[in-house]
Formats: sequence, structure tokens, C-alpha cells
Amino acid sequence: MFVVFSNAHAIADYLTDHIAQQIRTKPTTSLGLATGSTMEPIYARLLQRIQAEALDLSQITTFNLDEYIGLAPDHPQSYFYFMQHHLFAAVGLQPGQVHLPCGVCSDAEQECQDYAAKLARVGGLDIQLLGIGSNGHIGFNEPGTPFDSRTHVVALSEKTRRDNGRFFERFEDVPTHAITMGIAEILSAKEIFLVATGRHKADIMARLYESGIDEQLPASALKQHAHLRVLVDEAAAELL
Ligand code: GLP
Repeated sequence: MFVVFSNAHAIADYLTDHIAQQIRTKPTTSLGLATGSTMEPIYARLLQRIQAEALDLSQITTFNLDEYIGLAPDHPQSYFYFMQHHLFAAVGLQPGQVHLPCGVCSDAEQECQDYAAKLARVGGLDIQLLGIGSNGHIGFNEPGTPFDSRTHVVALSEKTRRDNGRFFERFEDVPTHAITMGIAEILSAKEIFLVATGRHKADIMARLYESGIDEQLPASALKQHAHLRVLVDEAAAELL
């Protein structure tokens, strides 16, 4: 289940091969996408491959895990902006193909229900990419989130806000709430790839490796999935 790679680029190559093959085999592939620094080399490599091979993306759909409440799509720290900047714009994905929760909709609860309904219509994404927070969160499912949760509003923990604060000018600017896909929806994907790179992820990877299935460690929910692969570089694998 855990696979150790020499570095982040090797993980990006592996995932790019896999995703490209999946899209060639099934042009209507649905992809669950994540944000965060871990995903940057992966999207960079995927983008190169899509362009080099002129891969046809016209029938794929994508669903992102989460979005900050209060950040508009054109805010540089919004996850919509991240996706647009790192992948969507360069590969020409159209607005109707890509889905992210809306962070500035007037009724966040309604937005959660609408997003959950869209995911339910897909009936399980083909591939789900995940990063991991230093407290074990996946998407923005913080420790203690029930494993049967669907898309919901979450109050971000102090730790998560501090970790993500590096992208904001001031800590007070870090949003306090987000909308995240739930753990049940993540688990309904056909294949799941959790990626962790860098020495700063070594502690949480060791915890995940040793842990049973425990709601205090959201990523441990994935251990019940039949097609989970945890891809780590040597630095993140240092304590395994
Ligand atoms: C955020 C995102 C997660 C991501 C995590 C780790 O909290 N909501 O989906 O996995 O950050 O990010 P990074 O890859 O930058 O370490």
C-alpha cells in the first residue's frame, strides 16, 4: 500500500503515466483533484504530458476536494485560482467540466448539498488524488470528522490555519472556514492516491503507517479502501 519513490518528480512521473493511461482508456474519466504544494510538481508534469501527447480531455470531468469560504475564484489563495493557474487554463478545461465548491455562495449549506448531489450523480470518481495535512486531514476533513460524512462546512483547526498561513500575508487573513468533500465521498472513488513529500511529512506518515482506522486520524479511513496507494518520497518515508 505504501510505495517509496526517490523524490517528488518520480511520484509525478508515476501519476502522470497512470492518469494519461486512464484517460486514453476511458475518455469520460472523472478525476478528484487536490490542491497544496504537494500537487504542484504533479500538475506540472501532467500538463507537459497532456500537451506533448495532445491528450483529448474534452470528455473528462474534475471535482476538487475543497475551497475556502470567503475567497472568490479570482483571489490568489483560493483553490479555484490554484487549479486555474496550475492546470485548468493551460490544458483548456472548460467551466462545465471542472467543479469546485463555491466559497462565496450566499448559502454555504445549500452549496454543500448541491456539490454532494453532483458527486452522487457521478457515483464514485475514477481517480482521487489527495495530499495530507500535518494533523492527518484529507481535503479539509479535520480530526474527529465522521467517516460517513459528505460535503460539509468545516471550521478549520488552529493548526491547519497556521500550516496554510504561509500562503497569506497575515495569519488573520487565513479563512476560518471551508467547504470540503466528505470522507464518504472520498472513499467512493475507485482508486485513491495519497501523496506526501518532504521531511515535514515524515511524522504524519509514520503515524498513518502505524495507525489503525481511527477517526482522530482522518487519512486512516483510507486504509479500508481496496485500491489505495500511498506515494511517498524518501524524505517523507524517513520514519517508516
Ligand atoms: C490543505 C488542503 C489539503 C492538502 C493540505 C496539504 O489543507 N486542503 O487538501 O492536502 O493542505 O498541503 P501541502 O501539499 O501544501 O502540504
